[in-house]
Amino acid sequence: MSEWKELLMLDHETHEKVFDAGEKAFAASKPDRTMVKELLRYFVEYLDGCHNKKEEDHLFPLLEERGIPSRGGPLAVMLAEHASSKELLAKLRTLGGAYGSGDDGVLDELRGVYGEYVALLKQHFWKENDILYPMAEQALSLADGEKVVEGIRATEIAISPDAHARYYKLADELMRWGEVKDLCYNLDYEVLGAILNTLPLELSFVDANDTVRYFSHENHPKIFPRSRGAIGMQVQNCHPQKSVHLVNEILADFKAGKRDVAEFWLDAGDKKVHIRYWPVRGTHGEYLGCLETVQDIAAIQKLEGQKRL
Ligand SMILES: [Fe+2]
Ligand SMILES: [Fe+2]
Repeated sequence: MSEWKELLMLDHETHEKVFDAGEKAFAASKPDRTMVKELLRYFVEYLDGCHNKKEEDHLFPLLEERGIPSRGGPLAVMLAEHASSKELLAKLRTLGGAYGSGDDGVLDELRGVYGEYVALLKQHFWKENDILYPMAEQALSLADGEKVVEGIRATEIAISPDAHARYYKLADELMRWGEVKDLCYNLDYEVLGAILNTLPLELSFVDANDTVRYFSHENHPKIFPRSRGAIGMQVQNCHPQKSVHLVNEILADFKAGKRDVAEFWLDAGDKKVHIRYWPVRGTHGEYLGCLETVQDIAAIQKLEGQKRL
């Protein structure tokens, strides 16, 4: 595929993901005002102010030079749709501005115009991807194609040297808007580490490649003392040779999603040591590694009756 086509189609794909993010935001009874503002900023500054400009300044004129008429043909349709989308965007800006200032009365109209804007551009991108661009690939020489790529880059750089990266980052933020980050994002590492060291059980963590990455209670008395030298070692090298096959079996089960815990218990003096292994999974269920918890449960086993606050 020509590079210019790839670049413009990637823009389309990104715009469409942003459309979906906007649809999700507008489905809420009170869409996030900052999200709406940022969404419209993306359309004004990038979709209209940069993407459409790349086509209008660098692709369409060259196609006209190569014999695709700008009147009455596909170029005329594309230009007319750019103009219609600009008009809808102007309405969106007015309504969005009012909504941003706290006027909830415009919300229904804002939703309606957003729907029109998205519907118009979705079919516009489809026409470009499937009709105009393939036609243009036929009409343009290799050198022409390179000129379009240069024009695309120049249009972005004219906004700012990092415009492309900035607007793709904004698109990404819009797609992830409202995603709930785990509460630990608000904690310092120091606090998080101290919390883990306060747990009444010892933790060790090996990552998805079976490499030891972490253990808790480093400067506390431990049931199973460990030194920093273990960090970076393969977990198979931290266990007696005779139990390695069992370790591998457990890890394989965790990776395959076949098991949710493996547990062992043993006596050590007056302690009853409960050792458990847990697969650690990410938000999408992907295997991140294995957590070992070691706990003396002797005192817990002796509990009887109740003691309440
Ligand atoms: Fe276009
Ligand atoms: Fe386009």
